Amino acid sequence: MRELSLNILDIVENSVSAEASLVSIELTEDSHLNTLSVTVIDNGKGMTQEELLKAKDPFYTSGTTRRVGMGIPLFKMAAEQTGGTFSIHSVDGKGTLINAIFKTDSLNFKPVGDLHATVSALVSANPYVDFVLKYSVDNNEFVFDTREIKQKSEEIPVSSPDIVKWIRDFIEQNVNNLYGGVTDNENT
Ligand SMILES: Nc1ncnc2c1ncn2[C@@H]1O[C@H](COP(=O)(O)OP(=O)(O)OP(=O)(O)O)[C@@H](O)[C@H]1O
Ligand SMILES: [Mg+2]
Repeated sequence: MRELSLNILDIVENSVSAEASLVSIELTEDSHLNTLSVTVIDNGKGMTQEELLKAKDPFYTSGTTRRVGMGIPLFKMAAEQTGGTFSIHSVDGKGTLINAIFKTDSLNFKPVGDLHATVSALVSANPYVDFVLKYSVDNNEFVFDTREIKQKSEEIPVSSPDIVKWIRDFIEQNVNNLYGGVTDNENT
């Protein structure tokens, strides 16, 4: 995978499979420490101690067909290859927290990529799940929350093409702004 957003997609899909009703995705970049922390927190069914140990093993999957689960191992490897760290905490019946810290000055660091495409696809495919995206770069923070969108869009489902496109553009623009990008609707 060339982009971290695709690893993040895998991790969030695990949360959705675990029947989470709320998934929070937090990216925190520090340009002085040269770190990017990515945290995914869900209120899904969680894992037992045994399931947790197995989840860290690439040759384990709870899927019944004989196959290898790679979402977690690939995310862990992506972080560790940059000299960063990886951790999982899970409480059976309560939820799961996964954190990976990347060293952004490593040659092995791959860019976040199209997070707006990832998040809008998740919202579109899972209209009954709520997603929060918290993205901060140094002292600037941007928060996106589907619960707010659902309140405002009233009877129009968040998975309708117009809303999904709006979400995609909204996230793209706000993330660009965090990196000092210039937006179209600023008159300065
Ligand atoms: N957020 C989560 N909540 C509950 N269980 C989880 C969560 N994330 C992972 N798991 C458990 O850990 C296993 C391994 O996850 P991983 O993403 O590595 O592989 P997979 O989802 O089985 O397969 P793949 O991601 O390759 O399609 C999952 O099958 C699931 O049992
Ligand atoms: Mg998976």
